[in-house]
Amino acid sequence: MKKILIGLVVLFAGIQFVPVERTNPPVTQAIDAPPAVQAILDRSCADCHSNQTRWPWYSRVAPASWLVAKDVREGREKLNFSEFGDYPERRQRHKVSEVLEEVEHGEMPLKPYLLIHRDAKVSEPEIETLRAWVAVAGEAPRGEEEGESHES
Ligand code: HEC
Repeated sequence: MKKILIGLVVLFAGIQFVPVERTNPPVTQAIDAPPAVQAILDRSCADCHSNQTRWPWYSRVAPASWLVAKDVREGREKLNFSEFGDYPERRQRHKVSEVLEEVEHGEMPLKPYLLIHRDAKVSEPEIETLRAWVAVAGEAPRGEEEGESHES
């Protein structure tokens, strides 16, 4: 029993040396959204979808750090509000529409993140705010745009 415990402690200490990337690269072209929308994105999404991640203390402790870094890496890859203006317009509109879809379906923010960041939940009135924004800045409703593709 004691040997197992010592083994675990050594293992825990050892994995702390695995390098984890916790970078906040420069903001190149931040998204240009109305302030009410911006506030929602900043609060609920920016930790994984921007270059301005607020890295929490547990992002410095393995193995939690691996999970946090993975979410941030994959989140930025799919959608990065700090580089949003660099996307072609078509992609921007597609992503804006996806934002609403993900939030409406309760897919975003990710569930484990919500457990720790309860205030990140997007409320019903906030979803209305997103809807109004997406109606203007999102994709045209299906069928109205010729030859539309749904690349992500
Ligand atoms: C804890 C990190 C985290 C937070 C917070 C978060 N996301 Fe994500 N998001 C991810 C990850 C990881 C992916 C890629 C994997 C996936 O689709 O599940 C992703 C994917 C997405 C996608 C792309 C889906 C696709 O298929 O291309 C959209 C859109 C999105 N998130 C919107 C949001 C919005 C809007 C918020 C805030 C309301 C948000 N996310 C909050 C981690 C996060």
